[in-house]
Amino acid sequence: MESFVINGGKPLVGTLEVDTAKNAVLPIIAATILTDEEVVLVDVPKIIDVEKMLQILLAMGGNVVYSGRNVIIKTKGLSNLEIPSLLAKDIRSSIFMLGPLLAKYKKARVAYPGGCDIGSRPIDLHLSGLRDLNVEISEDYGFIDCDANNMKSGVVHLDFPSVGATENIMMSAVFLKGETTILNAAKEPEIVDLANFINSIGGKIRGAGTSSIVIEGVETLSGTTYKPISDRIIAGTYLIAAAITKGKLCLTNANYQDVYALLNKLRNAGCLIDYTEDTISIECSKRPIACASIETQPYPGFPTDLQAQMLALETISDGICVVTENMFETRFKHVPELLKMGAKVTTKDRMAIVRGVNRLHGAEVVAHDLRGGAGLVLAALATEGKTIVQNAHYVDRGYENFELRLQSVGADIKRC
Ligand code: EPZ
Repeated sequence: MESFVINGGKPLVGTLEVDTAKNAVLPIIAATILTDEEVVLVDVPKIIDVEKMLQILLAMGGNVVYSGRNVIIKTKGLSNLEIPSLLAKDIRSSIFMLGPLLAKYKKARVAYPGGCDIGSRPIDLHLSGLRDLNVEISEDYGFIDCDANNMKSGVVHLDFPSVGATENIMMSAVFLKGETTILNAAKEPEIVDLANFINSIGGKIRGAGTSSIVIEGVETLSGTTYKPISDRIIAGTYLIAAAITKGKLCLTNANYQDVYALLNKLRNAGCLIDYTEDTISIECSKRPIACASIETQPYPGFPTDLQAQMLALETISDGICVVTENMFETRFKHVPELLKMGAKVTTKDRMAIVRGVNRLHGAEVVAHDLRGGAGLVLAALATEGKTIVQNAHYVDRGYENFELRLQSVGADIKRC
């Protein structure tokens, strides 16, 4: 298992380009099942979760060809409608295949999905939404068998604005005669990007980005060349890296509107922020002021995927911060590791109280999930002396060449 070895205490200075978004690319890869025509996805990040999603397509009989940083996908006539359970168990996004398979082939068999261990990760909202559209679903031995031969348009109300459930139901309804409405839909930018992708191949989806999405059924879909949106979580991670190291970064291919909740927090912490249509600049010359509270919420609230990175910043900020993780039930696994570095954090259920200290000290710490691992790297970048972050593969799930990008702006970080 690889680790990151970091000698911190150096400010990050320079320019970083933000990759295309993992959480936009993953559902869009699933959506390519909807069309028989060729789809070219532009500038796809080379990260583990994307590679595994493409492997699932290949295992089902799809055609996938890398061409530089582009991926050429053709899924006409998939020969296997059962998602390989070994791959399905590896990544949460395997469940996104369900909707398009039901739309296109009227049946699917999928194992319960895996993903980072940040909570129980149920799929009840996905299944109840599909049942509301008259999909027959049976579950046994960890597999879900679906029959959509009697599926019809209708109204689905989500008890919670689940990102994945919104995406799955949106994709499942693309060919249903009439109009299907999703109420209390998730509003994340990745939902809008998925709808834009489907509309670019001939779909008719409106309202994405609001809590009410309408999908008008169409007959067939075409091909396209499509560049997904930039990754707001990578952008946020870089911004926090600048804040925690008292550095100065300019991010390109970055959309300030997608990270507005974070920008507000960083401004209140004393960082200077500026932005244009596709760049964000940040400069932090002194110790950050603690944010009184950070509460993770569905978009446009503060994103749960930046909680660990922000908590790391708060461990060296001036003051006390109360972090509340409303989205997942066990997303504080990075806290015991931060304590090894001298952080002062107490947690109870979904709340963490962080008392900022002047400095942390180096230690050997363990990443337990993707964003927690990124948070530990950020803490190490701010810490004089050597820190080893084990389980670099978790970070590789969502960040391509993380250490090389950080090296390019002055970080002393190596993979070993
Ligand atoms: C997506 O996960 C993202 N993953 C997650 O990013 C992100 O943290 C999450 O949305 C919230 O923004 C991808 O897009 C691949 P949810 P998803 O359904 O769809 C509960 C990362 O680090 N829920 O919005 O799984 C669920 O337990 C990953 O990039 C149900 O109860 O998230 C959670 O508490 C981590 N029943 C809450 O809703 C369901 O059927 C939010 O889950 C579905 C979800």
